[in-house]
Amino acid sequence: MADQFDLVVIGAGPGGYECAIKAAQLGLSVACVEKNPTLGGTCLNVGCIPSKALLHASELFAEVTHAFPGMGIEVGTPKINIKQFLAFKDEAVDGNTKGIEFLFKKNKIEWVKGEGSVVGTGKVKVGTRTLEAKHIVIATGSDVARLPGIEIDEKQIVSSTGALLLDKVPERLLVIGGGVIGLELGSVWGRLGAKVQVVEFLDAILPGMDGEVVKNFTRILKKQGFDFKLGSKVTKVEKTKAGLKVSVEPAAGGAATVLEADVVLVAVGRMAFTKGLGLEAAGIATDKRGRVVVDAAYQTNVAGVYAIGDVIAGPMLAHKAMEEGVALAERLAGHYGAVNYDVIPGVVYTSPEVASVGKTEEALKAEGVDYNVGKFPFTANGRAKANKTTEGFVKIIADKVTDRVLGVHIIGTNAGELIQEAVIAMEFAGSSEDIARMCFAHPTLSEAVKEAALAVTGSPIHM
Ligand code: NAI
Repeated sequence: MADQFDLVVIGAGPGGYECAIKAAQLGLSVACVEKNPTLGGTCLNVGCIPSKALLHASELFAEVTHAFPGMGIEVGTPKINIKQFLAFKDEAVDGNTKGIEFLFKKNKIEWVKGEGSVVGTGKVKVGTRTLEAKHIVIATGSDVARLPGIEIDEKQIVSSTGALLLDKVPERLLVIGGGVIGLELGSVWGRLGAKVQVVEFLDAILPGMDGEVVKNFTRILKKQGFDFKLGSKVTKVEKTKAGLKVSVEPAAGGAATVLEADVVLVAVGRMAFTKGLGLEAAGIATDKRGRVVVDAAYQTNVAGVYAIGDVIAGPMLAHKAMEEGVALAERLAGHYGAVNYDVIPGVVYTSPEVASVGKTEEALKAEGVDYNVGKFPFTANGRAKANKTTEGFVKIIADKVTDRVLGVHIIGTNAGELIQEAVIAMEFAGSSEDIARMCFAHPTLSEAVKEAALAVTGSPIHM
């Protein structure tokens, strides 16, 4: 009897743990299978949370040097105590993972420790135990994508996991991949003194982001010391006594140049993680990229088996997985649940931050949609001027005919918080005029959102 549940979730990352908690709140008996010694998955243990702790600490470190003198604060030259720097991050991880453990206990969710595999209709095997469930949810997330011939040792050649553990600031950090991880973790070590080079296969960093944002952001990062080798690929990393020798070729092929580095960070994406789940034996279909195939209700081709988060198609974002987990739990409990995939924000937690939601200009052009654009720079925002954080802008794209907001893109301090205003407006099918007519507190960075909305069809006040 003890091994029978309404729901068994495999994986306790953001998608899995939210699904488990929501289902328990709605009255289902729930077990969650997790093999790691702590709950929370990639995000809490080796992803979002620890990287944000290091980004926060390293940003303050940089501010001591770059911002404090201008404010008349004299503290001398800052020094980094790497042990404490990493311990600060570990504390953040510990607090968050223990928090999920507490929530599991509070909601009477059994954490079944071990690796789960689907062994038949309504059955999950974990070690010697066989759990029986009305519903099974696969929420096993993703793993680091690797490059052939480049072996990650997590010391000199690291993935995002090893980049959170470096025991000294590398003099030269070479990042393979100009995506979110490369730019965030490159920022951490760059702020502490590393010379950061980024080798990106495509002709621009942050693929999929609004082109104007990418252009401006690239300029800002270059000013911070980032060196970009765009349209290039790494073909070989050689370990020598003097460090790493990295062979870089043009993306289309051609003569190689050799760059030198102390640490190489491989950040070329992530892949669905399904190892050990027994998908093939259970007859659960996957696509060409190894992702579990689901229908609009997150059900796989096997009745009663569902999947959510990074292990299925869509953006590999913790909050996307969380929304899917909750929507699925609601459906399994007999309620209504849905995710609006048109309004999922994305944030790059660099300094300044980059945040976006909805369509880019490039996507709208490709779709043949007519639109208006309103922009407002932080140089004209009172609060940003007072704080001397004037880099960046807010850009709002709205339908030319209906004025409905189709996309919002922000570079700037706190962009990751500001974007939520756009998310709310878009979720309610708001227009740029709706935003422009709202009262915003003064002086706030948010006012740049209002001014950009005013600029869509008219004129901002402060320009
Ligand atoms: P990514 O997909 O964001 O970027 C990978 C980059 O590597 C791309 O620009 C790609 O063109 C480039 N690339 C691929 N192969 C290459 C090669 N051989 N040589 C040079 N460049 C190559 O992946 P990333 O940064 O590894 O992140 C993984 C996932 O985690 C992403 O889906 C990302 O959205 C998510 N994530 C989200 C964060 C956030 O929301 N703040 C933070 C960290 C990760």
